[in-house]
Amino acid sequence: SWFILTLSNYHLAMSYAMRSLVEDDNRYLKSFRLFLECSSEHQCMQDFIHVILPDILASIGEGKANLNVMGVGSGAGEVDLEMFSELRLKHLAVTVDNQVVEPSAQQLHLYKVLVSQKPNLDYIKFTWNKMTATEFEKDWREKNYTKKMDFIHMIQMLYYVKDPCATVSFYQSLLDKKGKLLIILVSGEDSWHTQNQKYCLCNTESSHSVTTGDIKTYLDSKTVSYQSYELPSQIDITECFTEGDQRGELLLDFLTEVFNFSGTAPAGLKARALELLRHPDCSKEVEGRVIFNNTLGVLVVDPLQ
Ligand SMILES: C[S@@+](CC[C@H](N)C(=O)[O-])C[C@H]1O[C@@H](n2cnc3c(N)ncnc32)[C@H](O)[C@@H]1O
Repeated sequence: SWFILTLSNYHLAMSYAMRSLVEDDNRYLKSFRLFLECSSEHQCMQDFIHVILPDILASIGEGKANLNVMGVGSGAGEVDLEMFSELRLKHLAVTVDNQVVEPSAQQLHLYKVLVSQKPNLDYIKFTWNKMTATEFEKDWREKNYTKKMDFIHMIQMLYYVKDPCATVSFYQSLLDKKGKLLIILVSGEDSWHTQNQKYCLCNTESSHSVTTGDIKTYLDSKTVSYQSYELPSQIDITECFTEGDQRGELLLDFLTEVFNFSGTAPAGLKARALELLRHPDCSKEVEGRVIFNNTLGVLVVDPLQ
């Protein structure tokens, strides 16, 4: 995801010995679940969904009886369903067409299981697209679809597309007049990002270190209007510092976005990554635990006028 932290002289090592975590569905899923366990990420998203999002959701749809919603990189759907509960409160009698765009078969399966276990979702028609955001875009263009969306969200997924700004631009073009595009990424404002920049961020083929700050710069250049919010969030990364600890290694994989980072990174890079993670600008020690600051940024983008 967002912590591709390496030094420029490790470029070669990166391309030869290390591969991107997201290419391994199994390990990616395992490390993401562990990350969620150790972080307050979903909690802070829930706070946003129940406090700020309701007014935003109330503004979409223009009184339509059926809303078109799309989740891009929805994962196992927990956050999506949380948002639907608020959407339903604001649009009581509405039905929803929900397009789920998610390349991981395992994540899609978990999402379907979750839907089957939740009562009262009959008003939503789910369409499952086992595709990346870019594949979906290609498909959409080829089929000349003209359907317009009332609400599109991409939560913690833009790291995995080749050109995040082009992706934002395409999905924004699908919005109906009163539609909204919700983007959540790591915030560009936090000190971790500053640290990373100082030490030279290097991207792999499959993931980038894009932040909401980068997307804002892009949107500003296009004079697109949007609202923005910051969500303070933390991760307990203590286990990353115990040599040979399996959970620590998995978490480190997620943070660096590298498959088996501990086993494949050159020793110097590994030491540097650990040093950065516990740098006082990024982490603090609380009762013997290392707590890493991971502030998220939220952008709510308006349609093109
Ligand atoms: C960090 S998870 C976030 C999942 C969910 N949105 C959440 O916040 O819990 C990133 C998700 O993006 C998906 N993903 C990876 N590459 C993608 C791509 N190119 N297009 C769309 N989704 C992608 C992954 O399979 C994963 O489910």
